[in-house]
Amino acid sequence: MDFKGLIAEAISNVTNISKEEIKQFIEIPKEESNGDYSFPCFRLAKELKNSPVNIANNIKENIKIDENVISKIDVVNGYLNFYVSKENIVKTAIDKFESQKEEYGKSNIGEGKTVLVEYSSPNIAKPFHIGHLKTTIIGHALYNIYKSQGFKTLGLNHLGDYGTQFAKLIEAYKRWGTEYDFSENAIDKLADMYVRINNLCSEDENVLEECRETFKKLEDGDQYCTELWNRFKELSLQEFNKIYELLGISFDSMNGEAFYSDKMQEVIDILDEKGKLIESKGAKVVNLEDQGIETPCIIQKANGSSIYATRDLAAIIYRSRTYDFDKCLYVVGEEQRLHFAQVFAVAKYLVDKKYTDGLEHVYYGMIRLPEGKMSSRKGNFVKVEDLLNEAITKAREIIEQREIENKDLVAKQVGIGAVIFEDLAESRIKNQVFDLKEALNFNGETGPYIQYMAVRTKSVLEKAGYIPEANTLNVNKATDESSIKLLKYLMNFGNIIINTIEKNEPSIISRYLIDVAKSYSNFYNQNKILSDDKEMQDIRLYITYMTKVVLTNGLNLLGIEVPDKM
Ligand code: ARG
Repeated sequence: MDFKGLIAEAISNVTNISKEEIKQFIEIPKEESNGDYSFPCFRLAKELKNSPVNIANNIKENIKIDENVISKIDVVNGYLNFYVSKENIVKTAIDKFESQKEEYGKSNIGEGKTVLVEYSSPNIAKPFHIGHLKTTIIGHALYNIYKSQGFKTLGLNHLGDYGTQFAKLIEAYKRWGTEYDFSENAIDKLADMYVRINNLCSEDENVLEECRETFKKLEDGDQYCTELWNRFKELSLQEFNKIYELLGISFDSMNGEAFYSDKMQEVIDILDEKGKLIESKGAKVVNLEDQGIETPCIIQKANGSSIYATRDLAAIIYRSRTYDFDKCLYVVGEEQRLHFAQVFAVAKYLVDKKYTDGLEHVYYGMIRLPEGKMSSRKGNFVKVEDLLNEAITKAREIIEQREIENKDLVAKQVGIGAVIFEDLAESRIKNQVFDLKEALNFNGETGPYIQYMAVRTKSVLEKAGYIPEANTLNVNKATDESSIKLLKYLMNFGNIIINTIEKNEPSIISRYLIDVAKSYSNFYNQNKILSDDKEMQDIRLYITYMTKVVLTNGLNLLGIEVPDKM
């Protein structure tokens, strides 16, 4: 039942103000003691030329609303507070769930729309650092979430496989290539060479100049350079794939920056034709002041080389043609905000408004390990693969003494689940200190805690040996406080997913799952589930089943698996 709609209609009938207008003002109070829905009457004070308190009292006196649904109406400080009858909450929650069961949470609101989620996008021959882990985890969650709502969803990995760093590596390889064995830990070795060549570059201008020349050669398709570049790329992908495998992720496209290298001329041509390209110290730039961006966007450097932004622009043209997308999300750190603002502004000269309207930089804050910030340039990085494996090992230690089968699998599910949840636990724009120990705390607000609660629902159902039919349930048996509280959360799952999509903010689901898990824990402690009262047992089992589905589907959306036992 649409309680908001029902209340809005009843208020509209008394006040002669449209139902839609009323509906948008109806709130869900933070405090339970203020009812289930609340209408702030000051919203109508101007229109009705009366004080909020008078309006509230007036509405209360004259409103006609089904008493079986709304059991009580209170006036508090100019607010009208509505209390939905408990039986109705139980019934509505069950009906909502019953229509979808295991599919609960899915929808088709995205039907006919295409969403591109560009995420992960690490740089070849450079370590995959914990910032990349964060985009990978956020991006994959968004990918799952959009897909679950019927959007045609594609995951794109915009590999950083182009740029001056490869020229630097080629120069390094020429000098020291024979010193290394690349058959193992290749990225470490490439990274080591990269550090060495960078040091040399800062000591010796000539080396830096050589690197610039080599980059030009690479762009012009020089055979020796291209072969080496391919080798670096392959070696790097082998290592990235280990991380993707651990996380259970695959991409629909791995077209990196290099893929767009022969598609950039069109960008330059269109901008030129439109008179948008201007010379600045030998470089070609687009002035964006009229769009409120002070820094011009460089399109071509003085030596004729393209830059990062040019490839992003070529990618936008390509993606508009290839995918005809409705949204294209870029899950990239906040330090690239100016870059994307510039790229999106220039894109307005290249593709239809339909496409530029769909571009969004989904940025996230800084992430660091407790030890201090890492930088790949200086060489003190933490390997993400090691971090993931450490999480699995630690999870294994925790479950070692438990009587469960498949400990390896469970350790992987819990360890990886802990890392994923930790990265999604807070609003993405917040800076984060990634603490593995905290992430693995089974009693904290963590992935393992929610997994554990999901496992508990499974074992309760297993012990009972059946799931009752929804139409046989007696809703009067679940009107106690802990059941109502849990059911209110459970029936909100769909809204939570929609809010998540509106803000591209997976933490909305993470926070919600914490609420559901805690609320189930409370429900479980307050209520004996298996009992002599069959009706009581049935409805409690059914609520347990609903909780199982919500926790499982919710975790899966985030990219987290639920073990059978833990
Ligand atoms: N490779 C870049 C990095 O590691 C991220 C790429 C972001 N995506 C883009 N379309 N520019 O910083």
